[in-house]
Amino acid sequence: MKIIQLSDLHLTGSNALLYGSNPETRLNAAVDSIVRDHHDAAFCLLSGDLADAGTDDAYAALATITARLPMLVYPMVGNHDDRRALMHAFPALQRDEDGFIQTTIDTPHGRFLLLDTLEPGRPWGMYCTKRLAWLRKQLEDGSAESFWIVMHHPPLAVGIPSMDQYALQNPQSFHAALAPFQSRIRHLFFGHLHRPIGGSWHGMPFSVVRSPNHQVALDMHAGPEVPGCHEAPGYGVVLIDDTTVVVHHHDFQGSGTRFWL
Ligand SMILES: [Fe+2]
Repeated sequence: MKIIQLSDLHLTGSNALLYGSNPETRLNAAVDSIVRDHHDAAFCLLSGDLADAGTDDAYAALATITARLPMLVYPMVGNHDDRRALMHAFPALQRDEDGFIQTTIDTPHGRFLLLDTLEPGRPWGMYCTKRLAWLRKQLEDGSAESFWIVMHHPPLAVGIPSMDQYALQNPQSFHAALAPFQSRIRHLFFGHLHRPIGGSWHGMPFSVVRSPNHQVALDMHAGPEVPGCHEAPGYGVVLIDDTTVVVHHHDFQGSGTRFWL
């Protein structure tokens, strides 16, 4: 099974430049690349910060551009998003009974849990007791053997202080909910960090993908201001089977001429 992860699109909806590049143009280029090379993906995860300022125009642009993808698309919220505005553009979007934009996707390889870590008006992530109760319910439902967690905010520090201050603020209670199921959690997918990062957290593997628009610099000293940069934009191509998970970070604007090695 192949899936696509696009994260941190930061659409403005106005075709305005953001840090010197046009997020709508970049997303269109990423979609062109996915349509050309990865039309066989089962679905596409949009792991938050879909709009830069949570505006209706940005989500309208998102709906128009992602409608070109020939697979199911799952929009999720990040700290730059607005739930009401996102729902307005995607009225069929699944929410839990408390109104959080989180849902499940059942696949032949297990259940994907798409989590809502947004705390409105704050740059960091939060996973409150209501959301934790929803998560426990999905994990305890005996119909899935394996789980895949998708969320905007990582619950761990990655050594970049300017971003680590904006991680999930309650990693202990979040981990406590996952811990009884840890051996069945195959991978965690994060956004937020605008960098290609991989590792493990409490023994569970995770990965983070680049933004299609702008990146966070690998600066392990700066803070509290976040250092941006224009390293290559990207999206993730994930391959899954019964024994293996592979995460490719694709630089869709890489224009080097191909040659045979
Ligand atoms: Fe972001």
